[in-house]
Amino acid sequence: MNISKILNLKNQAISSILEAKDKKELENLRIHYLGRKGEISQLIKKLPTLEVEERREVGNLLNDAKKAIEEAIQNQSSIINHQSSITDRDWLDVTALGEKINYGHLHLLTQAIREISTVFEKIGFIRVSYPEVEWEWFAFEALNMPETHPARDDYESFFIDEKPSPKYGQMVITPHTSSGQIREMQRTKPPIRMININRCGRPNYDATHVPTFHQFEGLVIDENINLTHLKGVFDYFAVNFFGPQRKIRLRPFHFQFTEPSFEVDINCPLCLGKGCKVCKSGWHELGGSGMVHPQVLKNGGIDPKKYSGFAFGWGVERAYLMKSGLNLDDVRLLYEPDLRFINQF
Ligand code: PHE
Repeated sequence: MNISKILNLKNQAISSILEAKDKKELENLRIHYLGRKGEISQLIKKLPTLEVEERREVGNLLNDAKKAIEEAIQNQSSIINHQSSITDRDWLDVTALGEKINYGHLHLLTQAIREISTVFEKIGFIRVSYPEVEWEWFAFEALNMPETHPARDDYESFFIDEKPSPKYGQMVITPHTSSGQIREMQRTKPPIRMININRCGRPNYDATHVPTFHQFEGLVIDENINLTHLKGVFDYFAVNFFGPQRKIRLRPFHFQFTEPSFEVDINCPLCLGKGCKVCKSGWHELGGSGMVHPQVLKNGGIDPKKYSGFAFGWGVERAYLMKSGLNLDDVRLLYEPDLRFINQF
């Protein structure tokens, strides 16, 4: 069955529905497309004759088309009703209640970003947002990841097709917000308390990864900053963002730009750490962290003999899902314009 034929049929149906002027015309269109002998119904009847693979694809398309047509009919029908209720009467009831307007709301990712900022701003972090398109030097070299270093493979990146800078290398779409650490060190002097939230990009696409995602990066630099400060800030964030019963766990790890380094886990929103079907171990990974490497401080123009600091970089999407206990099994939904999903938040 021809796929573009189905799409055309759907578009054609919707555009004629939008032009329907009265109920009779609308009903005729409904019968024409969705009635027992209607165009869509005819095609659906042919489904069993197709090969399994094709049947699935075409079936989905037809279902989609059917839903879209039904929705269009419903919308048009309320428009027609509304119009006739205005034109059919020559009096006006000034005491009648107004019609409720449908307000939109912020997308849940925007809500997440605002909440995260607010939690950190309360303890003196300054919200910044550094470039989404970055030089390799800020994204890698200055963070102890020279071009030949295998760690850089983990950050397979989108490179921009532009002339490289002799000083900073090629342009990339920021693969992590850690480039903001160097930017912040160059912008200002310690004491530093930065929260950098931004869009990042890496070429992955599956149920747990999207090529465009968001990270929030914390950076604290001052005299005598040590691991207890790192843990203290994480504990504060766990309780204030995720909820009173939530806890953070550190697991030793390796990053080029922090030493020592840790992966940070949060206890499972469902079993609170006991271990359940969803989390297995009781914990979910949030992201990386560690004490800023002395060479990174130097690269940012800060004297590592005088100052020390810690940094962390976690995914906004992941953190938000851990909070609401959504148990969403496909992160791609967050990036689709499906109102049935979006309106739940
Ligand atoms: N940038 C690291 C990542 O994207 C996370 C990280 C940030 C680790 C800061 C340590 C310190 O995986």
